[in-house]
Amino acid sequence: MTDFKTVDAAMLSRRSLRAFLPTPVSNEEISEILRVASRAPSGTNMQPWKVYVVTGKRKQQLSQAVLAAHNDPDYPREQAYSYYPSPLFEPYISRRRAVGWGLYSLLGIEKGDKEKMHVQHGRNYEFFDAPVGMIFTIDERLEIGSWLDYGMFLQNIMTAARGRGLDTCPQAAFAPFHTVIRDELDIPEQEVVICGMAIGHADAGAPENTLVSEREPVSAFATFYD
Ligand SMILES: Cc1cc2nc3c(=O)[nH]c(=O)nc-3n(C[C@H](O)[C@H](O)[C@H](O)COP(=O)(O)O)c2cc1C
Repeated sequence: MTDFKTVDAAMLSRRSLRAFLPTPVSNEEISEILRVASRAPSGTNMQPWKVYVVTGKRKQQLSQAVLAAHNDPDYPREQAYSYYPSPLFEPYISRRRAVGWGLYSLLGIEKGDKEKMHVQHGRNYEFFDAPVGMIFTIDERLEIGSWLDYGMFLQNIMTAARGRGLDTCPQAAFAPFHTVIRDELDIPEQEVVICGMAIGHADAGAPENTLVSEREPVSAFATFYD
């Protein structure tokens, strides 16, 4: 029987970390994390996930290609799917701002400093220097239910990583550059790039890694009926 405290500790200690050490993580360890994570439930056991793992030279090449597109204002960014509604509304605007400003203030980036914000956003494409990057795709013909399943798989990866002393950052920032990623990794046309994920050993000394995002109390989102 698993001690619930162990499971809680893995979930409670997970944060999105945005600076990593070069310490390598083996393909065997990543493969084991993915095997464990793939025990996630999915509607009628469809297991809609596909994962592309990049390290070393391939990771460098992918980063360079996506960064070049990110730094080109004329590059036609297209959303492979819609993550956020536009316009966004409360209470979500405030929560989004709090985490954005929290991160930028830790990095000494002032509100409105678009150049520095652009550079920091670009750190996504280097997987924040993590030794391993992952790109997640789903068959475009699948429905919203399979995207729900996908979230459980992603969370399982992040929890399994914590159990091994590793940290992660899920990265939707990759989605607008799906054409570049598709070319670099030979991803079939029918697969939608959902997000990326950095995984590795966090740099504990990095100011951005001190960010702890807030959560609403249970009473704010749960209603109990007796
Ligand atoms: C699917 C998904 C995509 C995300 N994309 C990014 C991203 O591109 N870049 C980034 O720095 N953080 C990204 N995040 C991290 C969120 O900002 C973070 O989860 C949120 O602020 C809560 O903080 P926490 O993960 O540290 O608890 C993403 C999170 C999720 C779940």
